[in-house]
Amino acid sequence: MANIDGKALAQKFKDRLKDEVNFLKGHGVKPGLAVVLVGDNPASQVYVRAKGKACEEIGVNSFQHTLHKEIAQEELLWQISELNNDPNVHGILVQLPLPDHLNEKVILEAILPEKDIDGFHPLNIGRLVINQPLFQPCTPLGIMKLLEGTGVDISGKEAVVVGRSTIVGKPIALMLLHKNATVTICHSRTLNLEEKVGKADILIAAIGKPAMIKGDWIKQGAIVIDVGINRLGDGKLVGDVEFEEASKRTAFITPVPGGVGPMTIAMLMYNTVEAARRHGLRIRERRP
Ligand code: GUN
Repeated sequence: MANIDGKALAQKFKDRLKDEVNFLKGHGVKPGLAVVLVGDNPASQVYVRAKGKACEEIGVNSFQHTLHKEIAQEELLWQISELNNDPNVHGILVQLPLPDHLNEKVILEAILPEKDIDGFHPLNIGRLVINQPLFQPCTPLGIMKLLEGTGVDISGKEAVVVGRSTIVGKPIALMLLHKNATVTICHSRTLNLEEKVGKADILIAAIGKPAMIKGDWIKQGAIVIDVGINRLGDGKLVGDVEFEEASKRTAFITPVPGGVGPMTIAMLMYNTVEAARRHGLRIRERRP
């Protein structure tokens, strides 16, 4: 059993990105990320703060917009349009979940695809489906980097994804498929979950229920990526997998915290710097 150190890998990515940011600045492009937070969801506030800190660390301009929880949809659309048109903003992230009166689909589709560093715009999702990605969602992208880091060849492996969200489950299933894994997607209506999990060479747990996947379900020698971040009554953070028991069987497993979480933010920085790089190249191409 080996723990996968997401924090260390994320640091490696951020160090590389620092150099890339300096390179871009030398060419007159200072990467900028706008983060829009609607309302006062405490978990979202924590995530947004962490994103601001990561920007600071690698030298990305961070523009944080905190908007009233009752903001009208039309007003929010105008704010997004301003960011779309702001040449200093290369990436736009609208923190989810949004308050119920806002239509998430309409809001996400309003972000220009070339600034959609979350990879949630339908165009970016469609491009992922056909394996011609522009921006890929940060959490699944981070998972792929963690898997690559183990040195294990994904091709031909049985990969089981538990969870079918648009943010994690569906995109990671596609990414694994593109690496030639045989992919099974399980969800809340799946029958015999234990049996399916037991077949996994690679298990991705993205359900959001503390320790729902029992350690003794895990196949000997499996790789387990635990995307869950669940806070228990006593304040402790735990994943979706029973860590202690599972880690007796796994070849590699991500801890919670310190596994997937830090990689998500590193990939957000990666996408933002990439958006700025493409923007810089586009400006030059337009010059006479
Ligand atoms: N809320 C939880 N995860 C995410 C994410 O990756 N992006 C955004 N925008 N909101 C989130």
